[in-house]
Amino acid sequence: MTVMETTALDMAKAEAFAEQVGDMINAGAAAAMVSLGHRLGLFDTLAGRAPSTSAEIAEAAALNERYVREWLAAMVMAGILEYGPKDKSYWLPAEHAACLTRDAPLGNLAVYAQHVSLFGKVEERTIHIMETGEGTGYDDYPCFHQIMAEDSSQTVIAGLFEHILPLAPELDGRLKAGIDVLDAGCARGSALIAMAKHYPASRFTGYDLCADAIEFAQKTAQAEGLTNVTFETRDLTGYAEAARWDFVTSFDAVHDQKDPFGLVKGLSASLRPGGVYLMQDVGGSAHLENNFDFPMAALLYAVSLVHCTPVSIGQGGEGLGTMWGWETAERFLSEAGFARVERHVLPHDPMNVWFVARK
Ligand SMILES: C[S@@+](CC[C@H](N)C(=O)[O-])C[C@H]1O[C@@H](n2cnc3c(N)ncnc32)[C@H](O)[C@@H]1O
Repeated sequence: MTVMETTALDMAKAEAFAEQVGDMINAGAAAAMVSLGHRLGLFDTLAGRAPSTSAEIAEAAALNERYVREWLAAMVMAGILEYGPKDKSYWLPAEHAACLTRDAPLGNLAVYAQHVSLFGKVEERTIHIMETGEGTGYDDYPCFHQIMAEDSSQTVIAGLFEHILPLAPELDGRLKAGIDVLDAGCARGSALIAMAKHYPASRFTGYDLCADAIEFAQKTAQAEGLTNVTFETRDLTGYAEAARWDFVTSFDAVHDQKDPFGLVKGLSASLRPGGVYLMQDVGGSAHLENNFDFPMAALLYAVSLVHCTPVSIGQGGEGLGTMWGWETAERFLSEAGFARVERHVLPHDPMNVWFVARK
């Protein structure tokens, strides 16, 4: 017996839902095209530009006109670009450029569209892990560290000195005087490099599992001529360095570890008296029912399924997932020996939660 035969179908509800699914698929396609436009610099080419033909836009972006024309059509249908049929011209309204370009005043949402494309790139692998229960490795994700660096340039670097470090008011003076700082899970090292430039008297160290990200960080620091920052490829599982640092940070780097609680405990023990641990992580709740209004919650659970959960399982870990929840983070911090834990949500970064933990 089919659903149709056993239950009286509310046709209006069914049709409205079918329309919703259709809109969702259309929006998903548009998101994949936004990712493409971001990677090819097309939004930056279009920003501030007068209405232009596909040939003019393709030439300005140094791309093939025929393909650019198809991308432009997709963007017009998605309501992102506007179109003048008379002279077949396209333009990006300033209000739309405000969240789609590399210097967008509202933050560049096109960066997050890249996750949608990543889902497609790793779909075969995701099917495989769902069938077998296996994990993944960072090498399974093309461009992962580049996307993360773009993400954290908006959530971390953009607000680092104005909003983030002031969460622990004692830090600025101590960093100016000269202290030892660790960034755990530093990836390409952009937060440490920004701090090393700003606070030349302090000494900065970054550890990360991925050698390619560490190599990138080392080259960037060298190109900047920095001598007060070092990077090391290091698996933080079982991390133990007693009383080594005055200030420890982790930016979105705890939940996808093999042993997140073990890491928090190790970081707690690695602080000298008076030390501060600053932890940024995803700010959703551990309870599904609390996340309906959380920004981009479906995207975050999807990122969790294709990336954060399997990279932890791939290291032999428990796979807490992206939405492990601020409640879990807060519990880990208090059980790891921090006596004073503050939780903050910053206006420029509504998807994350910031903890300042002191012993
Ligand atoms: C989501 S990324 C965040 C990277 C960076 N902090 C940022 O904000 O862009 C998580 C990072 O944790 C690192 N990581 C995961 N497991 C690790 C482990 N066992 N030891 C050291 N680093 C690890 C990954 O290589 C990755 O760079």
